[in-house]
Amino acid sequence: MPRQIIIDTDPGQDDAVAILLALASPAELDVLGITAVAGNVPLALTQKNARIVCELAGRPDMPVFAGCAAPLAHTLVTAEHVHGKSGLDGPVLPDPTMPLQDRHAVDFIIDTLRASAPGTVTLCPLGPLTNIATAFQRAPDIAARVQEIVLMGGAYFQVGNITPAAEFNIYVDPEAAKIVFGSGAPITVMPLDVTHKALTTAPHVAGFRAMGTHVGDMVAAWTDFFERFDKEKYGSAGAPLHDPCVIAYLLEPEMFSGRHVNVEIETVSPLTRGMTVADWWRVTDRAPNAMFMGDLDAERFFALLTERLARL
Ligand code: BDR
Ligand code: CA
Repeated sequence: MPRQIIIDTDPGQDDAVAILLALASPAELDVLGITAVAGNVPLALTQKNARIVCELAGRPDMPVFAGCAAPLAHTLVTAEHVHGKSGLDGPVLPDPTMPLQDRHAVDFIIDTLRASAPGTVTLCPLGPLTNIATAFQRAPDIAARVQEIVLMGGAYFQVGNITPAAEFNIYVDPEAAKIVFGSGAPITVMPLDVTHKALTTAPHVAGFRAMGTHVGDMVAAWTDFFERFDKEKYGSAGAPLHDPCVIAYLLEPEMFSGRHVNVEIETVSPLTRGMTVADWWRVTDRAPNAMFMGDLDAERFFALLTERLARL
């Protein structure tokens, strides 16, 4: 039986690749729905981009829901400097014709968890945690019903990418992250420590192009666009495919390694707001609440990604 997942996302080129990877893997993953949240760009664009990606994958039937337009306690911070004005800059894709669902994303998350047997639905947040935290606040019974939360966010050794101390997804809504990390649900974290190893080098991009498919061309063009920012910033060989790490973990967890440790979220300090304070060295007696990943087998990751995307 494929594992049932909900992808909560703010596309974003790397979110788009994550969605494609999930939709290319129906034997292992049953995507129940895609919930959009404000993050890389405002909600009006993330919900539209999610539908563009579903149509690219040949899945106009996928239910896509719009969720929260702003973080719980602060104004939205966006990342057009990375993803472009549309959030999916690079190749030009047609506006989607598939519908946006009427139901709010938070209601979809709550209703789905309540209607499913406990421990059978996994949440995959790829953006700020506003939708998930709002669902947990509104329906405190659902956290205990979640099979696992596998999320992209945070950092330990890599520290921050949007501020010196904080990773973007957590920084945008630290209050939401605090609720999620304190929820008691089993959590697996893909921090920058892992995602900065999932770098699209020129041969990887060439591999996407060599598929000779529309999806391959789009992914190559997106990663080319997205790449320019990280190349300039880090002097790295390519763009980090952050969000696909979440889906790759569901498909082949053995390619990742990490530690089950305590992770707390800083919400107060102006200098370090949004920092994931991970007790990597286990120097406190705070109870572990998350599997915090530290490494991945990058070659295996790209082999999986290329093989799956070629199916679309
Ligand atoms: C995260 O922030 C976004 O820009 C990416 O889509 C990813 O989810 C990386 O910090
Ligand atoms: Ca994202």
